[in-house]
Amino acid sequence: MEQVVSKERLVENMPEVDNLFAEIRREFKGNADELIPMLQRVQRALGFLPEQALLEIARLTGVSAARVFGTATFYTRFHLQPVGKNTIRVCRGTACHVRGGARILREVEKLLGIKPGESTPDLEFGLETVACIGACALAPTMMINNDTHGLMTTRKVREILTHKD
Ligand code: FES
Repeated sequence: MEQVVSKERLVENMPEVDNLFAEIRREFKGNADELIPMLQRVQRALGFLPEQALLEIARLTGVSAARVFGTATFYTRFHLQPVGKNTIRVCRGTACHVRGGARILREVEKLLGIKPGESTPDLEFGLETVACIGACALAPTMMINNDTHGLMTTRKVREILTHKD
């Protein structure tokens, strides 16, 4: 997957991460059982899990860096990159696929310049795909945050995304 976060951005985050870990060292005992609560704590504070935070969690918990990275990537609720303010989910389920879901996804990708799993550089939008959003009768569908948009066309995608503030 293409890396959206620049090295500069990670370096910019360093003071924020340092302050956060000063708090975390006070809040946690620093044992292996605290791995997931610590990941949750960092994600709540920063919105994602930068690499230097994962390495610091490994050091604090005594869990190997490989296991910390493995855990962070296993659970979809954890993000290793900054997440866009608005999450767009395009359905890739069968009902949507047969009604042109791939075209909808391509249009969103083209307009935002990102692929699923990525966020726009200004962090306005994040893009994901889902197996079914439970509105198959309205296929093809997509969601923006909690709003479902059905009977999508490429034109509707352009209208929605260019009018989203
Ligand atoms: S397959 Fe797309 S909403 Fe169900």
